[in-house]
Amino acid sequence: ASKEIQAAKDAHELLRKFYHHLLVNTKEGQHALEYLLERGFTKESIDKFQIGYSLNSWDFVVKFLAKRDFSPEWMEKAGLIIKREKDGTFFDRFRDRIMFPIFDRHGQTIAFSGRSLGADEPKYLNSPETAIFNKSKILYNFHLAKPIIKKLQHAVLFEGFADCIAADRAGVENGIATMGTSLTDEHIAILRQNVHSITICYDSDNAGIEAAFRAGNLLDDAGFQVKVAIMPDGFDPDEYIKTFGPEKFRKDVIDASYTWMGFKFLYFRRGKNLQNEGDRLSYIEQIIKEISKLTKAVEKDHYLRQLATEFSLSLDSLKQQEKQIYFTEK
Ligand code: UTP
Ligand code: MN
Ligand code: MN
Ligand code: MN
Ligand code: MN
Repeated sequence: ASKEIQAAKDAHELLRKFYHHLLVNTKEGQHALEYLLERGFTKESIDKFQIGYSLNSWDFVVKFLAKRDFSPEWMEKAGLIIKREKDGTFFDRFRDRIMFPIFDRHGQTIAFSGRSLGADEPKYLNSPETAIFNKSKILYNFHLAKPIIKKLQHAVLFEGFADCIAADRAGVENGIATMGTSLTDEHIAILRQNVHSITICYDSDNAGIEAAFRAGNLLDDAGFQVKVAIMPDGFDPDEYIKTFGPEKFRKDVIDASYTWMGFKFLYFRRGKNLQNEGDRLSYIEQIIKEISKLTKAVEKDHYLRQLATEFSLSLDSLKQQEKQIYFTEK
């Protein structure tokens, strides 16, 4: 099995180099390179993240690997090629896609995610789970970001590769991303060994805000200091940086991120009309519930006062209700 694993890793390394070469040096890769440059990717990030291009061919990788004596059965298990049911022949998994190598913590390529250039579905095609690739344990860019995360004692969590790469270009080099899955306990365990403070910077669309709420709760429960960065409606970090530039991203998005409680104030307000009495009361109740989960008396007091001021309520009644909720939720 260890020979098979070594072969899987070697094949990934070889292909990473070849895909990158195809993107940056060949006529076949030119349209893909133009696509990336048009999107704002720079030559430096294309190199740093070893982005590549897979040819529009059914058997380029099959032949490339066979010529180098890799067993097709092993390469199928490594997720690089796929077996045809009907005749047992093989074909390439990734065709005509922008290739993002996925690195493990040692910088070894263990998987790929291929982005379609047009409207081809899926938008991102990932390697399957294999002996060397377990999505729920991999954080994109962790091998490069780790020393910076340790130095700054701070990490920024993104939703996608493009966001992570754009942020890096904008000077935010402590960024990492999950791979289209939500944050797992394994991710959290890896993060805990390295950092205690995390800013979540997911897409500012509905799905992203819901995912930020889920991830934030997990990280908060795990004892991290959590912040949430918000952009104008619908933007993701990559689009924001392309539209407004790196400085504005650092200053108005990352540095201006909300505290976890501040984000929850916003989150529970969504879809409510606070002029409406029913909405207002349910909002106040939700917030008091969140306040009751806080452990520091000073923080409780601070947010209860904030609520009292905003809605012209007596601090006493809010405190009373907080106590009630605190004891019933116990
Ligand atoms: P998004 O749909 O927000 O994509 O999905 P994106 O990161 O903004 O990508 P671009 O800018 O359109 O190129 C967020 C993440 O979800 C995963 C990928 O990891 C992606 O980065 N995803 C998305 C998939 O795995 N497959 C998909 O088909 C789509
Ligand atoms: Mn290069
Ligand atoms: Mn998204
Ligand atoms: Mn996005
Ligand atoms: Mn995007």
